[in-house]
Order: sequence, then C-alpha cells, then structure tokens
Amino acid sequence: MKVFSGTSNEPLAQKICDSINIPLGDCTVEAFPDGETSVRINENVRGEDIFIIQSTCPPTNHHYMQMFIMMDAFRRASASRITAVIPFYGYARQDRKDQPRVPITAKLVANLLEASGATRVLTLDLHAQQIQGFFDIPVDHLYASPVTAAYLNKKNIQDLVVVSPDVGGLKMANAYSKLLGADLAIVAKRRVSAVDVEADAIIGDIEGKNALIVDDITETAGTVCQAARLLKESGAKNVSACISHALLNDIGVNRLKESVLDELITTDTVPRPPIDGVKITTLSVAGLLGEAIKRIHNNSSVNSLFEFQGGRTS
Ligand code: R5P
Repeated sequence: MKVFSGTSNEPLAQKICDSINIPLGDCTVEAFPDGETSVRINENVRGEDIFIIQSTCPPTNHHYMQMFIMMDAFRRASASRITAVIPFYGYARQDRKDQPRVPITAKLVANLLEASGATRVLTLDLHAQQIQGFFDIPVDHLYASPVTAAYLNKKNIQDLVVVSPDVGGLKMANAYSKLLGADLAIVAKRRVSAVDVEADAIIGDIEGKNALIVDDITETAGTVCQAARLLKESGAKNVSACISHALLNDIGVNRLKESVLDELITTDTVPRPPIDGVKITTLSVAGLLGEAIKRIHNNSSVNSLFEFQGGRTS
C-alpha cells in the first residue's frame, strides 16, 4: 500500500499517513510554465495498492485536473489498484437536472474520475448520498459524525436542539439529533442567488434552547448566518454550527465575522486560513480516513466507520 497526495490539502495527507504509520509517497506535482500540471512519481509503484488523497476544494477545476493527471500517471506506472481519496467532493451540489439545459456535474466528475483510472473512491460527507450511484466502481462514503459527535458529546450541551438550515439537510440533522439525544428543528430557506439566501421561518421549538445548526458545506456562509440570526431572534440562547466542509470564500469570512454565531465546528477536509474574531473549532478526520484506508487495503469491513446514516437527501 502506498499513499500519495495532490497539492490541495497536504497537511491532511501527512496526518493520514502519520495515523497509519506509513510515509507519504514521493511524487512531484507542479506546474509547467504555461500552467499545465506536471506530475512525476519518484518511486516504483508497479503492482502496488495506491491511495491518492486530494480534496477537490477551490480552485476546484485545478484540483480535479491534478487528480486526473496523477491517476493517469499511476495507471501508466502499472499500479494494481488506484483509490481516489476525496475528503471533500467538489461539484457535488449540481447532482440533478432541476432546470432546463443545466449539467449534472456530480455525475460528470464521477465519469472523469473513472476514465482517469480510479478503481475505488473513498470520500466523506458527500452533499447527497445518491452520488455514490453515479460511479460504477466501489465507493466508501464515510461521515465526519464519529469525530464531531464525540466533541459535541463531551461538551454535554443541555437543552439542545439540532437545526437543519434547509429542507435538504433534514436527514443529516435528524441523524445528529438522534446521536446527541436532542430535539429537531428546521429553517425554511430560500436561495435568492448563488451568494444570497433568505431564512424566514422555523419549524420547531427554539425558545430558551441551545441550537446546533448542522450542514455539509459552508461557502458564502449565507445559509448558516441567516439561520443563526433567525434562531437568535426566535429566542435561542446559544447558537453554534457543525459543518463538515468549511470552504469559506471572502464573502463567507466577512459574514462569519459579523454573524451572531457562537461557535463554528468543522473538520480539516479542506484547508482554511485563520479567521480572527470567530470561534472556529477544527476537528481532524485524518484518523478516520487513515483507518478506512487501512481496512480497504486489508479487505476488511469499513462498515463500522459509516454506521451513521446522516447524508443529505439533496
Ligand atoms: C446546500 O444545499 C448546502 O448543503 C449548503 O447549505 C450550502 O451550499 C451553503 O452555502 P452557503 O454557505 O454559500 O450559503
């Protein structure tokens, strides 16, 4: 077994290797002067079980292309199996044709991964569980919840209500509420544009409770900040959020700085610059991914790593 990394999240790749006590594989991933990706594997991989770690976070196109080119190099170097380890699966939100003349990018990317040489996929908190079906190769879909719930359980938050910030997130919120023994509520969200949302109603009992918003992704932080505002206006005492992938562009950072959110709990699936003035707790999923890699290599069950059935429905 050998583990290699693209450039999108090298600290996570190193931590994964540390967690299973193997060195990170030696390959050079850089750019030609014209910007094209150049890859060279600096060790023999013939017949090896290869895991390539790459979060497809922004710049998403670049990171995907790097992944495709790396897989092509490993395939041509006679690797016996290539597992694409994608802690954050980009392009997942376009997973259905809900308007005329739009693409289904989650499926397109699945096709491209297979065409480039992936023989398995290992990923975490997909935007929608049905994306697994876009692949004709095995997909192991893990959840960050064993890590996040352990942290939340330690905090022992009283009068807790888990809140889904939109209808699509209800299944995930429901799973968290069961896991934490908490009540459940949902915010009615309308997306006004790619960067703006409006949250105008809550279904559920919020008054005097501590609210935990759960979601898979935050990017412009519109969804989470609008939900937090509405929850505080509706009488919630403390409002925190648990979001697996904090992509956070500049708009998101500014919104978080101005928001009423008391704590953002997230993971290290994607790299993120430090943000002053916002309490952010980053939990590592390296151990979880490392354990899954080990079990996949040994052909043992990864079932116990994804018993939580909390993926979003859309
Ligand atoms: C929606 O379907 C997703 O699960 C997230 O709620 C959404 O992508 C968050 O985006 P933003 O932070 O830009 O509001």
